[in-house]
Amino acid sequence: MEPDALHMSPHGAIVLLTVLVAVYVFYECFFSPLARIPGPFVAKITWLYYPFISRRGRIHRELVDLHKTYGTVVRISPNALSVGDPMAFREIYRAGNKFYKSQSYSVLQGTRPFDLAGQRDEKIHSEQRRLVARSYSMDSMVYLEPHVDTVINALVDRLKAFHGQPIDLGYWMQLFAVDVIGSISFSRPFGYVEVGEDNGIFLRIQRALRSIGWIRHAPQLYRWHQKLMPYIGNWLAANDRNTYFFEFATREVQARTDRGGDYKDIAGQLLSVQKEKPDLNDTNIAFMMTTNVFAGSDTTSTSLRAIIYLLLKHPEKYDRLVEELESKRQKGELSLPVTFKQAESCAYLQAIIYEAMRLYPAAGDILDRDVPPGGMTINGHYVPAGVVVGTSAWVIHRVLDIWGPDAEEFLPERWLDKGNENNLKRFFFAFGGGSRTCIGRNISWLEISKLVPTLLMCFDMRLADKAELTEECGSLVFLSGLKVHVAPKELDRKLLAS
Ligand code: HEM
Repeated sequence: MEPDALHMSPHGAIVLLTVLVAVYVFYECFFSPLARIPGPFVAKITWLYYPFISRRGRIHRELVDLHKTYGTVVRISPNALSVGDPMAFREIYRAGNKFYKSQSYSVLQGTRPFDLAGQRDEKIHSEQRRLVARSYSMDSMVYLEPHVDTVINALVDRLKAFHGQPIDLGYWMQLFAVDVIGSISFSRPFGYVEVGEDNGIFLRIQRALRSIGWIRHAPQLYRWHQKLMPYIGNWLAANDRNTYFFEFATREVQARTDRGGDYKDIAGQLLSVQKEKPDLNDTNIAFMMTTNVFAGSDTTSTSLRAIIYLLLKHPEKYDRLVEELESKRQKGELSLPVTFKQAESCAYLQAIIYEAMRLYPAAGDILDRDVPPGGMTINGHYVPAGVVVGTSAWVIHRVLDIWGPDAEEFLPERWLDKGNENNLKRFFFAFGGGSRTCIGRNISWLEISKLVPTLLMCFDMRLADKAELTEECGSLVFLSGLKVHVAPKELDRKLLAS
């Protein structure tokens, strides 16, 4: 062929490009296996749509709106679907069903070889999870509870100083949640509650989460950024997980090892597993602790903020809960701090926690999974292997077929209906599902169940004038604006369990 035959005029190149784009768009809209699944036009033709809307910080609400517009299954990218169909949801997150975590999780994992949340390989994940599972199990709560008590007592002492003036109670919930991680992990709170200050660490966590929130949906961009980092520097706060926070966790693990002692905190338990299983080396323990800080602090504080906000917004529910606690206290069945066992026996308290976490689940984004070989059928549409599917708790927690016409209402009573409670729990997705369910669930339930009644017994609370929650989602939902008047109560201590 003559070399000239390969040359094309600019005009010819534009025409060719236009034809190729038109063929691509035509294919995605009419011939792709997902062509019949509704969704925004831009989402069908480019993967940039989803990271773009994620960056706006309201992906949890945008997903709910998308489902209102397009129905139970929505195409959110040429190769990805958001699923709000109850049956398909159950299929995707059923343990052992081989719907493995999608590519976005490799961004979450970064370069860390030991990362339960980000690990995509199920075999490696289950080996790693087995190494640490015991320290997070229900049996371990017995050892961890006194560590939580230390932080609750410190918080109650600090809040007593405010005598009814309005404070940002949400901020104190975050100080509490991070200190609990320090306390259960290393037998030593980080000391934030004591000084009422976080030394800038919250902003760093939030920046990192915000950055992970959108970049995980653009893994190609992430990889280019990582390759170019030696030349362009670090533009992604997401990388703090592997640097700043990992160094922080490493220092704490080292300090814990130096202090010694046979406390059954998480680090102590993992260090004793290490004696039998050297694979769990110090670096891996530090990685696990980094995950604790990331996965366990903002999630718990968001849940606490939602519970307190919804209670204060609904005085009749607040009063009913106080009545439940007061009647138990009168019978000498509650102590201060309230124990986990006592809290579990408070049916209305438990219903409130479920309901608040249903309406404000901390994980706002889709927990995406790859469709396994053989494909699946969603709502009559065949979806081939390799398509990314997943559900956000904000979506499944608002499906009318599951929750009824009052799905948007704060109605703890729905959890007291014994005939329906178990059915509702099958769709409670605040802690994820299947083999990747939150490993810290027992810990967070322990701290929340204990702290909420303890606060209500020790303080009168009311929302400050015009206090409204502001929501922002960067992978996790962050709630701010919980301004509350907190006034200490006079308690007849003779009526407390010893
Ligand atoms: C209210 C509090 C919490 C909420 C709402 C929450 C939510 C979640 C969710 C939704 C997942 C699944 C993520 C996915 O599938 O991609 C998860 C996983 C995880 N969470 Fe939590 N979490 C909470 C507290 C904690 C705490 C306190 C810790 C640790 C101390 C923790 C550690 C983890 C870890 C390590 C994973 C990964 C588990 C695995 O894949 O094996 N979480 N969490």
